[in-house]
Amino acid sequence: DGPKPLAGKKAVVTSGPTHEPIDPVRYIANRSSGKQGHAIAAELARAGADVTLVSGPVNLPDPVGVNVVRVETARDMLASVQAQMPADIAIFAAAVADWRVKDQAGQKIKKTGDGALPVLQFAENPDILATISQSSPTRPALVVGFAAETENVVEHARAKRARKGCDWILANNVAPDTGTFGGEDNEIHLIAGNDTTGDEVWPRQSKVAVARTLVARIARHFDT
Ligand code: PMT
Repeated sequence: DGPKPLAGKKAVVTSGPTHEPIDPVRYIANRSSGKQGHAIAAELARAGADVTLVSGPVNLPDPVGVNVVRVETARDMLASVQAQMPADIAIFAAAVADWRVKDQAGQKIKKTGDGALPVLQFAENPDILATISQSSPTRPALVVGFAAETENVVEHARAKRARKGCDWILANNVAPDTGTFGGEDNEIHLIAGNDTTGDEVWPRQSKVAVARTLVARIARHFDT
């Protein structure tokens, strides 16, 4: 089934949204379908890597040959990723909720009948990509993040790469008219350093083709 350039490498991939509970019946989430992250996990496995996919709630089949860990919240996702360390490659395609509801209600929040509205307070979630990027001595040799932006995509993504400390960032536009969230296709601007040396623009293609392009780029990285 083809060459195995990543044989012997251990990889961890995050995918999908996280669900942050408000009460036992309601949650906060985002529009990620998991298609991009799952495609990356599948392609890494085809290239011979030992792959664990840590996935938020999605409606997708498990990729062939991949160890899948299902989680709900950002905090669960962080713990499951940390449990996979050390690894050689870590790729963060999940759309992790930046905030969770601070005091999650133990019972369903009821309408009061007098029109009073519930008030939600938020707490910041851990940043999984930043935590793993800055985790010496177990930091993976190659840490790849995504940047989901709706404007000034490349500029914001470059700043994000520096702030979080990952090696590469794959910038994609998630403005509503792009169909990136949940759709079949994606257009990527790869940022591999502080300046534009090493930048690559991958024209709009299927998320599976994006995954193949990324895995070929990773194989070249470890080959040189
Ligand atoms: O799932 P699909 O429908 O196929 O859509 C694919 C996608 C648009 C979700 C994917 O290509 C993508 O861009 N994933 C990252 C989404 C995101 O939340 O990006 P961000 O710019 O907010 O976060 C930057 C990076 O930090 C990401 O690698 C993210 O996984 C990571 N992060 C963010 C917050 C947090 N608390 N922990 C993290 O690890």
